[in-house]
Amino acid sequence: MTKGYVRTDKRKNDELRSPILAKVGVVPNADGSAQFQIGKTIAIAAVYGPKKMHPQHSQNPEKGTLRCTYNMNSFSVEDRIRPGPSRRSTEISKITEWALEPVVMLNKWKNQVVDVHINIIQADAGTRCAGINAAAMALAHAGIPMKDIVSSISVGKIDKTLVLDLDKYEDSIFEDGEGSTDIPVTMTPSGEITHLQLDGRINKEQLKEVLEMAQKSCKEIYEIQKKALKDAIDLGGKN
Ligand code: CDP
Repeated sequence: MTKGYVRTDKRKNDELRSPILAKVGVVPNADGSAQFQIGKTIAIAAVYGPKKMHPQHSQNPEKGTLRCTYNMNSFSVEDRIRPGPSRRSTEISKITEWALEPVVMLNKWKNQVVDVHINIIQADAGTRCAGINAAAMALAHAGIPMKDIVSSISVGKIDKTLVLDLDKYEDSIFEDGEGSTDIPVTMTPSGEITHLQLDGRINKEQLKEVLEMAQKSCKEIYEIQKKALKDAIDLGGKN
């Protein structure tokens, strides 16, 4: 791993933020729900459905529809965010659907829709990944048929150094040298990539390293997600 940059929070370059906390059943009125926290970033996902798709012309007779809505709460960041949809939230909602769709068995609920509402209640970068982690757990908690759950993490390049799980400073404020590149990755436990975004420059060797770092930490996150789901079952089904 390349060295050079020293992290402000003294984390090792391949170290996830702490705490990582996962819990299901946090929204009793939803069909399934989960909260996922990594460092200071907290996401809550609530799943409703499967239910009949309205308007009717949007129904797909061949497969079900997974509809994700990502929202960053106004006071989740230092500068208040204007409430309501934005270009950014629309993009992240779509990306979340694409990250989850490969593991959700959409053919099991034709003509119907499953709604996933993701709320970021506190943001310190990595919110799309935290949202995907919460959504994957919430879908499983709702009993939506899935091949597996997915786990998501962001790997970054700070100047020339690869670092895991960027915080807000590393994601958006660091500008020295080559600046900062954020690479969110979502994977199945077997390492199949369902989502990868790369907005910046990186060479082939470093990208390979990024995927190795992502796979290792997605496995760690997967174990935490799995434990949260098992704990809920041990407590007697849905909370
Ligand atoms: O959150 P994520 O890393 O997935 O997406 P981003 O668009 O790269 O945003 C990085 C971080 O910038 C967010 O997690 C927030 O902490 C912050 N942000 C903000 O302060 N105000 C916004 N309107 C958007 C993002």
